[in-house]
Amino acid sequence: MTFDFDSGIDRRQTGSNKWSRYPADVLPMWVADMDFAAAPAIVEAMMQRLQHPVFGYCSAKPELRAQIVADMAANYGWSITPEDIVFLPGVEPGFNMAIKALLAPGQSLALQTPIYKPIRVAPEHWSLQPIALRLDRPIAEQRTELARADALLLCNPHNPTGKVYDRAELLALAEAMGDRPIISDEIHCELLYDGRRHIPIASLDPAIARRSITLMSAAKTYNIPGLKTAFAIIQNPELRQRFEASRLGMVDSVNIMGLEATLAAFRDATDWRDAMLAYLEGNRDTLAGAVAERLPGITMEKPEATYLAWLDCSALGLGDPAAHFLTHARVAFSPGSDFGPAYGQFIRFNFGCTRGRVLEAVERMAASL
Ligand SMILES: Cc1ncc(COP(=O)(O)O)c(C=O)c1O
Repeated sequence: MTFDFDSGIDRRQTGSNKWSRYPADVLPMWVADMDFAAAPAIVEAMMQRLQHPVFGYCSAKPELRAQIVADMAANYGWSITPEDIVFLPGVEPGFNMAIKALLAPGQSLALQTPIYKPIRVAPEHWSLQPIALRLDRPIAEQRTELARADALLLCNPHNPTGKVYDRAELLALAEAMGDRPIISDEIHCELLYDGRRHIPIASLDPAIARRSITLMSAAKTYNIPGLKTAFAIIQNPELRQRFEASRLGMVDSVNIMGLEATLAAFRDATDWRDAMLAYLEGNRDTLAGAVAERLPGITMEKPEATYLAWLDCSALGLGDPAAHFLTHARVAFSPGSDFGPAYGQFIRFNFGCTRGRVLEAVERMAASL
């Protein structure tokens, strides 16, 4: 089956956050969702579910748990059981629940910056001391700070830089954390390029798994984030119980259509995923080439994963580059300052859209300079 990622779809009348925040002449390249239609297999499964007209409270079916167990074994050589999986209405609620379950006010949480804003602000929400480590420093140099952290909130693959942690780095992080907990946001785990393989940190060793909460979802890879469905994998029953208790009437059960869509994604849409990844890899390379050619003064390292590129605009001296491009190029990016106070000279460019739109954004940027 072939899939068309090149024809743009008008999303303006759908209530899309991405397409409704800015005026109609602004190209939105900010929030992390893609402009592609969902896989036909997902749409089909949801339509089929709509044939049954009762939409009561529901839980994940055994088929979905079995699918995730099989995928973890096949994709990562990670052996989990159906009981290890806890369904959630999002990864963001998941890492906040994990923090609530594991840490008390005043304790410390290590993060690697720049970092996705809801992760960056999480310590403040829970009255924790943030230990903000620089992602570009070798892990060996982060050991002293990691040694005083009560927990680590890892983001792998990493948003906004697209970094993929390799085995040695993950082992070094786990070792530096001793027996303290690791919360691992792995929402972008199927969006790797150049033949790279994702490694869940908990899959490395049962001793690491015993103190880990891993968060995953079909949302990013299959472009269904509005269906608000995710899951945690927690192999330590005591940790899982504490995690469940932290719902506290605030984090509810999961949307019925999201569960249908997640099963269809993992079971029936991997051909779509592979085609979409090839297209995204082409977008990434096209963007890197266009930045080098058309935007002197901006540097970009090719992301190893995700559909997000992290562009360094420091050399341009624009003041606030995101504001400059919004005003003068009519393109909306995520401002670097969202990801840490030291990153105001960066922008995050979402290339999960038609290639034509990627190039149009670059041309608008070039014209504004
Ligand atoms: C690293 C990371 N974690 C979590 C989320 C949000 O996930 P959810 O919508 O499932 O809460 C995002 C969305 O961009 C993300 O990039």
